Amino acid sequence: MGKYKGFIMYVIYFHYQSCHLSKFIFDIFASMKNNYPDKWSAKLKQSYKRILFDVSDKIDFASNDYLGFAKNNKLKEIILKNFDTFVFQGSTGSRLMSGNKKWIEKIEFTIAQYHHTENAVIYPSAYQANVGLFSCIADRKDVFLIDEHIHASVYDGIRQGFTHHFKFKHNDFEHLKTLIDRHYQGFETIYVVIEGLYSMEGDIPDVNNLLGVIDNPKVFLIVDEAHSFGVLGQDKLGLFNSKELAKKCVARIIGYGKALGFSGAAIVGSNVLKQYLINFSRSFIYSTALPLYHYQIIYYLYQELIDNSQKEHQQLQDNIQTYLQITKDDGRFSHNNSPIQYFSLSNLNCGQLQNQINHQSFFAKVIVPPTVPKGLERIRISLHSFNTTEEIHHLVNTLKNLNKE
Ligand SMILES: Cc1ncc(COP(=O)(O)O)c(C=O)c1O
Repeated sequence: MGKYKGFIMYVIYFHYQSCHLSKFIFDIFASMKNNYPDKWSAKLKQSYKRILFDVSDKIDFASNDYLGFAKNNKLKEIILKNFDTFVFQGSTGSRLMSGNKKWIEKIEFTIAQYHHTENAVIYPSAYQANVGLFSCIADRKDVFLIDEHIHASVYDGIRQGFTHHFKFKHNDFEHLKTLIDRHYQGFETIYVVIEGLYSMEGDIPDVNNLLGVIDNPKVFLIVDEAHSFGVLGQDKLGLFNSKELAKKCVARIIGYGKALGFSGAAIVGSNVLKQYLINFSRSFIYSTALPLYHYQIIYYLYQELIDNSQKEHQQLQDNIQTYLQITKDDGRFSHNNSPIQYFSLSNLNCGQLQNQINHQSFFAKVIVPPTVPKGLERIRISLHSFNTTEEIHHLVNTLKNLNKE
């Protein structure tokens, strides 16, 4: 019926002005029309449906709040303690219009110093930061060589910039070297893009191996530290957070929506990079800046992370060790030295499994394509400082048994 509906309505429409009956029938057909194209629902029926959950009453094995900053009232404490200094106002425009303040630039400069580099630009999210960065830094004479498991936002940025890209096998720097050699003559600039801690794999690139491969004047390294910030590296500010390693990167993306328990991101690098982004990064130029207190909260959360989070880091490490110990003989569980783990699900009905998990006292997310390649479906397990030993045992035992059903 849907196929002919448009045609019938078209025929009736010719009689519409003169004939009351036609008008009546036309109105009936018009009222049957959805207020969205039919092909939307057809597409939804074809694919696994993503569903929104409210999991606030569940034991958390899903969020990226690795240190519990969002949950343990750190944010509330900071706001209460510094209430009088906060500017509870919207920014009123893009940073290039009315949304800038000298003190925001000072915060960015301070952040850059924490990251051993010259300057920083704060974005409303790491997604926007990546799209803004990758869409503007290269032209068609340049190429991106990206780890095959890089985050979707990097792809989206590269697509917007219409530039060339090739994928190297995950964490395989021999393969990266082959690609660099292959494309060396054909391109002016080669950007290598990795993550400091992979959001779905939970593994960490071997920095020394990588540095041996990219030591070349044409090659520039970009590290997305969205998940490693707050968890890895010097002062736990990211895998490449040292004086030496910072020099190896043309840009690092520091995400505030994960271990910092907040939101936003900064791209850190040289003063030239900052000027470049201000001039060419469209997601920075054409979008309203964050509300003013957001920058201040980011600043105070840095102090908390640097000065006051040893206990959370120790608890997180203890929990990672507990998990590794109780899963060590089971090959279906990942064994990463990081808060991100997974339980492999190949050949299982993922939708049904998510339903089973939804009936548990904890929440962990089933990850399906396109977020992971087909055949690598998994339950992503996020470990936190605040998970108890009993909770981790319960999670692991339940997952082992779920798989049997
Ligand atoms: C590696 C990586 N980069 C960027 C992002 C985007 O971060 P945000 O949530 O701040 O937009 C994510 C989000 O999950 C991520 O995993």
